[in-house]
Amino acid sequence: MKITVVGAGAVGATTADAIARKELCEELVLLDIKEGLAEGKAMDMMQTATLAGFDTKIVGSSSDYQKTKGSDVVVITSGLPRKPGMTREELIGTNANIVKGVTQSILEHSPDAIIIVVSNPMDTMTYLTMTTSGVAKNKIIGMGGILDSARFKYYLSQALGCSARDLNATVIGGHGDTTMIPLIRYATWNSAPVTTFLSEEQQKQIVSDTMVGGATLTKLIGTSAWYAPGATTAALVESIVRDEKRLFPCSVSLNGEYGQNDICLGVPVVIGKGGWEKIVDYKLNEEEQSLFSKSADAVRNMNDVLKTL
Ligand code: LAC
Repeated sequence: MKITVVGAGAVGATTADAIARKELCEELVLLDIKEGLAEGKAMDMMQTATLAGFDTKIVGSSSDYQKTKGSDVVVITSGLPRKPGMTREELIGTNANIVKGVTQSILEHSPDAIIIVVSNPMDTMTYLTMTTSGVAKNKIIGMGGILDSARFKYYLSQALGCSARDLNATVIGGHGDTTMIPLIRYATWNSAPVTTFLSEEQQKQIVSDTMVGGATLTKLIGTSAWYAPGATTAALVESIVRDEKRLFPCSVSLNGEYGQNDICLGVPVVIGKGGWEKIVDYKLNEEEQSLFSKSADAVRNMNDVLKTL
């Protein structure tokens, strides 16, 4: 198994570190355009191997795509991160060109790879990859919903005073401050609906905190977060390489599911060795379905900007 992570910034490097610690592959290539950055971070991680106990070989490279040849899974984190006060959508102009170029270079050497898109605005970058790469749709997965769901569980655990591991909660829709939909009606604490234990006011607060979860961190840190993005991306990669069939919300191409077409948007999907293998139809109520349609409209407007670049 060979995995490539493109972009050795905070998110890419943390993803690579988590993948190596889980020994998800024999070889892991970390790539960046900045001379020396990926080589340095790869060497630094390799020097943790004896302590963390892994044999994954991590290879760093400054844009030498030859080294990525024959990758089974490729994670794209390239592009600019958010600065405080910025939305993910404001990154489109710069990141669209970067993501398109990276995808082309990757496919020249790994035409069969499953591609995971992390770069923002993520749903639009996933759509761009889907419409310009010629790769089968099941092999293109946008990572956002798993991260937003992890944040949702964090806020729920704080309010309930419980272990986040006993929570099950999903965020669907777009990976944006106003487009994501934390499905609180479906969230459970070891199978009991969380709505049983939380007031309406608490529920509203948790949902709104979750929606701006990334922005809250960007404000505190000065750039976008990396520990949870890295951990959640590695969990997605793990379900692919170990064929775990985990059910994760991911941005995938919709063809009529959830009432949408010609768009990539977050819905619950089964993740296995074929990429995303199946969309699971959570029965949304009228209010949730209307939020999903609004989310799709906003993401579609963003996708339209691609035509003007
Ligand atoms: C975040 C970025 C990775 O939400 O989109 O932290």
